[in-house]
Amino acid sequence: MPEPSVTTPQATTTDPGRTRTPAPKALVTRLDIPALIARLTLEEKAELLDGSDFWHTQPVERLGIPAIMLSDGPHGLRKQQEGGDHLGLLDSVPATCFPPAAGLASSWDTSLLTRVGEAIGRECRAERVAVVLGPGINMKRSPLCGRNFEYYSEDPALAGALGTAFTHGVQSQGVGVSVKHYAANNQETERMTVSAEVDERTLREIYLPAFETVVTEARPWTVMSSYNKINGTYVAESRALVTEILREEWGFDGLVVSDWGGISHRARTLTAGVDLEMPSSGGTGTRDILTAVRSGELTEDDLDRAVTRVLTLVDRAEAAGDAGRTFDAEAHHRLAREAAVAGAVLLKNDQGILPLNPADGGRIAVIGEFARTPRFQGAGSSQVNPTRVDSALDALRTAVDGRREVAFAPGFVVESEAADPALVAEAVRTAEGADAVVLFLGLPPSYESEGYDRTHMDLPAHQIDLLNAVAEVNPRLVVVLTNGSVVRLTPWQDRAQAVLEGWLSGQAGGSAIADLLLGAATPSGKLAETIPLRLEDNPALGNFPGAFGRVHYGEGLLIGYRWYDTRQMAVAYPFGHGLSYTTFAYDDLEVLIRSDGAEPQVDITVTVTNTGDRPGTETVQVYVTDHESTVSRPAQELRAFARVTLEPGESRPVTLSLGKRAFAFWNEALNRWAVEGGSFGLRVGASSRDIRLETTIGLTGDDLVLPLRSDSSAEEWLSHSEAGPWLRAAIGDEGFGAIMADPHNGQMIRAIPLQRLSRFPGFPLSEEQIDEAVTRFAAAAS
Ligand code: BGC
Repeated sequence: MPEPSVTTPQATTTDPGRTRTPAPKALVTRLDIPALIARLTLEEKAELLDGSDFWHTQPVERLGIPAIMLSDGPHGLRKQQEGGDHLGLLDSVPATCFPPAAGLASSWDTSLLTRVGEAIGRECRAERVAVVLGPGINMKRSPLCGRNFEYYSEDPALAGALGTAFTHGVQSQGVGVSVKHYAANNQETERMTVSAEVDERTLREIYLPAFETVVTEARPWTVMSSYNKINGTYVAESRALVTEILREEWGFDGLVVSDWGGISHRARTLTAGVDLEMPSSGGTGTRDILTAVRSGELTEDDLDRAVTRVLTLVDRAEAAGDAGRTFDAEAHHRLAREAAVAGAVLLKNDQGILPLNPADGGRIAVIGEFARTPRFQGAGSSQVNPTRVDSALDALRTAVDGRREVAFAPGFVVESEAADPALVAEAVRTAEGADAVVLFLGLPPSYESEGYDRTHMDLPAHQIDLLNAVAEVNPRLVVVLTNGSVVRLTPWQDRAQAVLEGWLSGQAGGSAIADLLLGAATPSGKLAETIPLRLEDNPALGNFPGAFGRVHYGEGLLIGYRWYDTRQMAVAYPFGHGLSYTTFAYDDLEVLIRSDGAEPQVDITVTVTNTGDRPGTETVQVYVTDHESTVSRPAQELRAFARVTLEPGESRPVTLSLGKRAFAFWNEALNRWAVEGGSFGLRVGASSRDIRLETTIGLTGDDLVLPLRSDSSAEEWLSHSEAGPWLRAAIGDEGFGAIMADPHNGQMIRAIPLQRLSRFPGFPLSEEQIDEAVTRFAAAAS
């Protein structure tokens, strides 16, 4: 049984805009780092910036500097035995396999993510692992990304909140995380070299905020730079990304490690701010650094900065000491079960076919190999060697305990592209006359993995044929899905009365599914990504995975629901959707504008009532719409959420807070976040398409004075608080003045840059006067 669910509403905001306190700069260290730096030779310093093998940093024995171990994650520890590679070809020590990110994220449960992080941290401590390589918080730009199972969401606020919670959990145990893969690593095709061509505003609003949130709110020990380029420059070689944005803007005080094998030019990456190359480059990186110091490309100060960060990491790890060398595998398995329960999403449940009451008697036909042989995680570097694995079939039989017959037929061979007629016939016989059929369908492991992308989002055709054959003989059909990335449902879901999206649910997923099917637990998961009707609806279509080494992020800000909702397109299931066995009502929306202006603070309170007959958990979501904007904005964006657990009939007010970033956009002209005054819609609901209550507020916003240039339009000059009156006086009421004042006919003239107007015959201002005014107003503004 999963542990009883928590009944207090938890952290009520994911607002990435609440005022950030940059992390304090000074860290308390035990090693005397300045003294060590003074004693290290140049060669030793260069060596410290390279791994010593696949997983360890370089020790310097003569100075008592130990090696520390970094190891995969992120949904469990993958500590490989001696000499291990990084792609999971060799065995790793047994560890609890929690649901991979896609499942965890569907819980929308930050406190759960913290507890999972704590458990993983404990397991790391037990194995003397200093840093676990995760969380992976890249955006799900396309359903085809082979690594979507390892990422949280298509929404940066949700991914940022969950990544923060996970990081808090791991690091509370004296173990560091490595937030990855920074940044815009949204596909596997050519992942080591592809250039993501993405505009600044999209980077700032979509691809960077989750990293920003984790860095500013959870102070991760390390960040992992991604393999790819952004706009032609390798991220690992980008000083703008690795130093200016990450460290200087966000206040990151940890170490940046390369993704494994992600460095092609060591000196450039060191200049950019990547401190540690992993795995060991076999001496190449060290030689490159020394050559660069000799040629003057690098200075010893550059090395000292990076060495200080390596030693600080070693110090943080050593501070954890030797305590906590064991963990409770049973307790962690129970937590994995709870997490799998929380992450499963009940997509549909016609006529309340679920839950299946064990006391009802009758036969349950369980069909599908996944029920007996669970697929519970994805392939690649995150593959954990589980301490044990629960199958749904065993768990159902145990839970029903003879009160109902549970008949089983495998139905298909998982890694086969063709139906096995004998298995289909057996499945149909098993389904015939059963009181309910539970059909386990899903993606074979080869369909999704690190290292390559998917080519379609369909289930194997023979599984759908099997579903149709079973539905012919028994319409009381429940489908349980096993998949790390979304699959197309439209070809078959009408034939199922219920669909439970189980994701890849970790080692206890089988028991969790049984809990949900039989009503021992109530579903509460919500989709962290939209399920489109078909792949062709996805905004990255035509721009995924790119060609000739480049992938254009042509959809800009409109990824995921931002696209489907802005375009008002039908979807199979919207972002944020997920049913329960109970129902919830939303009432009494109240809004309190705590402060207005450049740093707005808005509180939203809504009362949620459990209107059904069982306890349940609802996730209240707040979407913000900008009604008036000088730039194009998505129709609505998730800005806060809160989970609330309620007994039948119970009501509870839930308050969610929104700060500046809930309303701001990245103003490219000002090169900063800015709130444009005007009216904003606040939409509160159970999914992006199930808005229960909404209201409109007015905010005054920032004082957005854009710097004037001589080629700013006459309109921009006229709307400037000081330049406007000056220009009006200078051009007078006649001639140009009269035309420009005309609301309609003047529009065309007002759109002309002032410098160009000055060249028109008869315009009363010269180019020199305008240049002089630019300087004067710029000086007045500064
Ligand atoms: C992956 C990382 C992983 C690392 C170490 C890389 O190929 O991209 O996510 O942590 O290998 O295994």
